[in-house]
Amino acid sequence: MPYPYQITTPGAYQDAYQKSIDTPEKFWGEIAENFRWQKKWNEVLQWNFKEPRIEWFRGAKLNITENCLDRWVEKQPDTPAIIWEPNDPAEASRTLTYIELYEKVCQFAQVLRDNGAKRGDRICIYMPMVPELAIAILACARIGAIHSVVFGGFSSQSIADRIKDAQCNIVVTADGGFRGNKTIPLKEIVDDALATCPSVKKVIVLTRTGIPVSMMKDRDIWWEDEIEKIEKKGINEFEPEIMDAEDMLFILYTSGSTGKPKGVVHTCAGYMVWTHYTFVNVFQYQPGDIHFCTADIGWITGHSYIVYGPLSAGATSLMFEGVPTWPDAGRFWDIVNKHKVNILYTAPTAIRSLMGFGTKPIEGKNLQSIKVLGTVGEPINEEAWHWYDEYIGKKKCPIVDTWWQTETGGILISNLAGVTKSKPTYATLPLPGVQPVLVDEKGNIIEGNGVSGNLCIRFPWPGMLRTTYGDHERCRTTYFSTYENLYFTGDGCLRDEEGKYRITGRVDDVLNVSGHRIGTAELENAINMHTGVVESAIVGYPHDIKGQGIYAFVIFNAIHTDENHTRQDINQTVTKIIGAIAKPDKIQFVSGLPKTRSGKIMRRILRKIAEGELQNLGDTTTLLDPLVVDEIISNRL
Ligand code: PRX
Repeated sequence: MPYPYQITTPGAYQDAYQKSIDTPEKFWGEIAENFRWQKKWNEVLQWNFKEPRIEWFRGAKLNITENCLDRWVEKQPDTPAIIWEPNDPAEASRTLTYIELYEKVCQFAQVLRDNGAKRGDRICIYMPMVPELAIAILACARIGAIHSVVFGGFSSQSIADRIKDAQCNIVVTADGGFRGNKTIPLKEIVDDALATCPSVKKVIVLTRTGIPVSMMKDRDIWWEDEIEKIEKKGINEFEPEIMDAEDMLFILYTSGSTGKPKGVVHTCAGYMVWTHYTFVNVFQYQPGDIHFCTADIGWITGHSYIVYGPLSAGATSLMFEGVPTWPDAGRFWDIVNKHKVNILYTAPTAIRSLMGFGTKPIEGKNLQSIKVLGTVGEPINEEAWHWYDEYIGKKKCPIVDTWWQTETGGILISNLAGVTKSKPTYATLPLPGVQPVLVDEKGNIIEGNGVSGNLCIRFPWPGMLRTTYGDHERCRTTYFSTYENLYFTGDGCLRDEEGKYRITGRVDDVLNVSGHRIGTAELENAINMHTGVVESAIVGYPHDIKGQGIYAFVIFNAIHTDENHTRQDINQTVTKIIGAIAKPDKIQFVSGLPKTRSGKIMRRILRKIAEGELQNLGDTTTLLDPLVVDEIISNRL
């Protein structure tokens, strides 16, 4: 068996799970034996959730890229590591074998080193979905620098905030990127960001679109020129920096219930073991399979299940630059057909959007190669689940509904494809090592089945976050202080009669729009930056395709032309400050917001209004001005 810890029967799952609870250190120690270490650990686990302090494989030394590249180069140099499918189907796809990827990573590691990058430096990566993005990530890991990837849809202001928070000294970007019929001027966006980021000394620019860009002397250099210099020297190897198990591997910013995104920190050893173990078990990866995760590497799903999970398993990872609906809604199915994809991992929002096009785009596409389907990012509704099962999986492919978060590093709750049973809309069972508990409002653990509550985890797993960059206290208060000795996920959850878990959605002020996390406070701050806005309140409402839509209630002091024009202005402001992904779907102008006497906005009422649940608004008598509710209802969009 290629992966000795791969669980292939329901009984083996039970055994592994039990062992992971009874003797976690032994369990993870044995799994960790299967990786390449420069030095093994002294201790498997040290932890307390109070500080919090979580250390896995203390004392061990490694470089994650030796596990993702070197060991596979020795064993299977010519196996494809990355298959890349471009945005435009007319452009040729590319395949990088393990040896090719290895050499490119080593060369770019040398470029980074030659441009002053050192172990521990933070490097911001703002790139389109091209193989060089994966190469840049792995090159950072090779030299021991900490990567901070910023999704290509974020604005210059968002990049600037992230660069400043992490004090990055290098940015890796591209002239531009293609997404559907759009060209995104990435370098220009970076230039705007860098006007306020003196920490950045070098910008390395890949040519992708060929659009003209400004190149600043002594700061901006072309990727291709740098690689040429390295090639001239004949360099295609790079000695990996030997890292401590708990050294930072990367920072990934994510939104929370407060205004500022936080830099979730993952470390080398635990994250490696977790993404690898979950990849192999949840998807039941078999050597030779082609794994297609449709996420962007700018999000955690791409980090864990395009790059680190698959590559650490010697797998073939398919990376797609474009969008599911361009040039037409059959794009995913063409890719499956063309590359004979075996595992397809996507988001419910994509499924719902494709469902809307009916079955025509699927006709004539051979989807026989698919063995396993996966979903991630948000609760999947029954209708989408069954459509996925029937039209894509042809009722013969298990669907894994994988619940996890940026903070968890990898999948925590999911069925194992074809091994443990699926149940529509349920993530089902925890992976070995994961101890979920449901708690009530007071923080009491709710025992038994057929119950619901707030989802917490009571024991560390190797892939969990270690801190929030530069602000450990924020990590403690956000995740470890709501309930004593528990990691709080921010999600509501139901446990059915059989002990299977169904995630019902966020219970905090975080929206999940098309599988993207958007903090309401962050969005309100952005809207409030518009000159005419006095105050705003954001809530989510059910949206057929996005899962949740964004409803903004805005107090505006003077609508200068007409309401629609002002709405566009507000959208423009949001696009500038956060990015187009955070644009509200609905903006309602109001003269006041429902507030308590102490000035707190009663979001519960606004949420009900946005959802159209007008009968049952609850008690409004404690409001400062109950009449404002009537006005909001009568002008509801
Ligand atoms: O609310 C849960 C939802 O997405 C949140 C995490 O978002 P993010 O950190 O951006 O990571 C998304 C990709 C892992 C969770 O708190 N979520 C994620 N997966 C599921 C889900 N909700 C229901 N079912 C899922 N399978």
